[in-house]
Amino acid sequence: MPSRPHSVSLKDHGQQLHLSHAEGDLTLEALWLRERSPDETTLDSLTGQRLIEAADLPLDLSLTQAQLDGDTLSLAFSDGHAASFSLASLLAECQPCEAYQGMTFWQGSLAQLPEADFAAALDDDAALLDMLEQLQRFGFVRVSGVPDTEDGMQGLIHRIGPLRRTNWGGIADVKSVANAYDLTMTQRGLEPHTDNPYRDPIPGYIWLHCLRNAAQGGDSMLVDGFSAAERLRREDPEAFACLTEVSPGFRYHDATTRLESEGPLIELDSRGQVARVRFSNRTERVPALPGATLLRYYAARQAFYRLISGDDFTLHLKLAPGQMLIMDNYRLFHGRSAFQLEGGIRHMRQGYVDRDSTASRRLLLADQLAGQRDGQFANEEASA
Ligand SMILES: [Fe+2]
Repeated sequence: MPSRPHSVSLKDHGQQLHLSHAEGDLTLEALWLRERSPDETTLDSLTGQRLIEAADLPLDLSLTQAQLDGDTLSLAFSDGHAASFSLASLLAECQPCEAYQGMTFWQGSLAQLPEADFAAALDDDAALLDMLEQLQRFGFVRVSGVPDTEDGMQGLIHRIGPLRRTNWGGIADVKSVANAYDLTMTQRGLEPHTDNPYRDPIPGYIWLHCLRNAAQGGDSMLVDGFSAAERLRREDPEAFACLTEVSPGFRYHDATTRLESEGPLIELDSRGQVARVRFSNRTERVPALPGATLLRYYAARQAFYRLISGDDFTLHLKLAPGQMLIMDNYRLFHGRSAFQLEGGIRHMRQGYVDRDSTASRRLLLADQLAGQRDGQFANEEASA
């Protein structure tokens, strides 16, 4: 965090506030300050939600006075409003976001897999937070000690958020069956893919629980899609740009369901950072775009596919009974090798959990455990 400003002053006829401090200068807009004014007429004291209509504020609103006293910044505005801001809170809000905050990109050579223990995460908040932070960092975590029952994952899902129900139910089978409604339910190998890009919203996290894995083959493959997309951006910027611009459709139809959606294979956020990847060869339906666009797209898709199916980026592992993978379906591609049932049974169970509830649990636990640690230190200092 920057050091405390040495001075504050008004600029541009009061439409800007200028903070001067050791690391550099910071300029804040009067309107931006006014709409987050931390007083009970502007923000609800209980929820922190805004009470005034920000769109009604005059666009030429300005500051008429600014005064700094320690951490307290007192401001007066041309609409007659006055309020005191915490300078530390204001500066914290102005911190630039680190690119891919809290994430570690990896490739197929990742030596140490992110691991967690089911019972520990179920019983202990610190262990649950550690599991969720590894999931955020690597985009997946392998969990051991999952109860050997069909819905064995359920207890831990309850600790995080609701199970996302789909037309396939809650926790559903992934095993070879006759009359498969999806290629997942066959013995075929599956190319690297994200799940269900034909849904809206797309499932956030895949929970894949292994009950039996005695079949020959059936190994899991994981690819860090963000890492691969950034490689593509460096090595083939034209292909990268194309995959952020063209939005293929994705489709799942069966006797009772029509699911259709669209989106680019590489989706960027407002800062140009990769926010989501999609790849689902078996459900993709590219629209009949102009020929030149199609050719550009096919070449770009091929370049990306070669990356995400190549040895550099592919991590191989075989889940054992009692293990599960939690995978970020916006970041990871996953696949599996073909399997033959002559060797034994392969039976997985799979469920989906949303991204917002997962992130919320992680952030809340981090705050709560930090608060407990602070309280503990304060008590220790008080009793020392
Ligand atoms: Fe899948």
